[in-house]
Amino acid sequence: MAISKELTQAETKAGGPGVMEKIVSLSKRRGFVYQSSEIYGGLNGCWDYGPLGVELLKNVKDQWWRAMTYREDVEGIDASILMHPRVWEASGHVENFTDPMVDCRECKARFRADQIEDAPCGSPAYKGRKASKCQAEGKFTEARQFNLMFKTLVGPVEDQSAVVYLRPETAQGIFVNFLNVQTSSRQKLPFGIAQIGKAFRNEINTKNFLFRTREFEQMEMQFFVRQGVDVEWFEYWKEERMKWFTGLGLRKERLQFHRHEPDKLAHYAKDAFDIEYQFPFGWGEIEGIHNRSDYDLSRHEQFSGKSMKYFDDETKEKIIPYIIETSAGASRSFMAFLVDAYREEEAPTAEGATDVRTVLRFHPRLAPIKAAVFPLVNRDGMPELARNIEAMLRPHFRVFYDGSGAVGRRYRRQDEVGTPFCITVDSQTLSDRTVTVRDRDSMVQERISIDNLLRYLLEKLAA
Ligand code: GAP
Repeated sequence: MAISKELTQAETKAGGPGVMEKIVSLSKRRGFVYQSSEIYGGLNGCWDYGPLGVELLKNVKDQWWRAMTYREDVEGIDASILMHPRVWEASGHVENFTDPMVDCRECKARFRADQIEDAPCGSPAYKGRKASKCQAEGKFTEARQFNLMFKTLVGPVEDQSAVVYLRPETAQGIFVNFLNVQTSSRQKLPFGIAQIGKAFRNEINTKNFLFRTREFEQMEMQFFVRQGVDVEWFEYWKEERMKWFTGLGLRKERLQFHRHEPDKLAHYAKDAFDIEYQFPFGWGEIEGIHNRSDYDLSRHEQFSGKSMKYFDDETKEKIIPYIIETSAGASRSFMAFLVDAYREEEAPTAEGATDVRTVLRFHPRLAPIKAAVFPLVNRDGMPELARNIEAMLRPHFRVFYDGSGAVGRRYRRQDEVGTPFCITVDSQTLSDRTVTVRDRDSMVQERISIDNLLRYLLEKLAA
């Protein structure tokens, strides 16, 4: 049996870049994530997903969509990014969606006033210096509030009446459609509405790769309930959402709940927990679960002048429901899955020696490529047979054909992008129509008949 030993963070760091730098570098080299507009020097806070990244992100979103909407009590929608500007007055974003900002009078760098502790000084002349030192020396301006919403204009006239915002969260598209969805789908309380989509925030400081960006995707679900059962539904969704992350392979010891202190609650929240993941740079929120009370629907009723009340045809009552929100970042979840999957392990080579392999241990449902197919050598009809196998598998999931280099190198290349299964056509295949299937994590190889291969892989991928 093949053996591998995961190296500790300290071991992988020894003499080289930290694990986060390695993940960013692997992401670029293997086509997960590139800097946006890189040939022009990049655009801060924006990233592009490459061929493998877009597949991984799509798999994360698909898994979320299945978990959240393939149930009787949740409907999906896809609302527009641009909305009526009054939406953002009703939501409280025009008034409250601000961060305190300070400027350095000397180097002109801008900082979030509440995050100076972690920030480096903005001047290249002071390498290694902390921004807090500059603050202590009195170089910073007074803090002023900065609204994080991006503004743009609709139509050709550039005046205040044409101002609209790029949505800073997908949630409002759900609230304003609450009655449309409820009546068209004939849902009764309790029920939810789910949405995946882009959100934009003009963050003062972007940082930590995909963690804090200016353009990102959210996966949000708003669950509408009667007041009085809100606390029990809040508990239910907290547990469900944690199970979703662990069910897709995130290590339990790297996940925790963090409860917001009453004085730190958002203006709309009655109670709030974050699901936090332990990134190499520390614990960070990947999802928020909020009890939003009846704040949102009441505010939209007030600002639009339209009733947002739910009519209960059994009790004949009209009520504004409470809302339990689950709000995950697709981009932050992507990053948590990528970081969690990243391992450097001691592993035996084909020659019986030991080397270090980099492997992304993605859950098979998230892996961008599900199986790779190799001919052992490029002769004796092996490439043709391998191509036939590739063609047989391709309609069912994403496969990759690789006929170049030593087979051990080909395994390593697939390990590095997290492909769970590598199938090799060898000389035995020519006589008995069996192939080897190598498992990414155990590196153990099994011989499987070509006729049973598809069923075997589908069962493993569904497990
Ligand atoms: N509707 C509630 C809401 O938007 P939030 O805590 O501000 O709540 C929810 O955001 C999630 O969106 C966060 O847990 C995070 O995963 C993601 N998110 C927020 N700001 C982000 C940013 N600047 N970059 C990447 N993801 C972000």
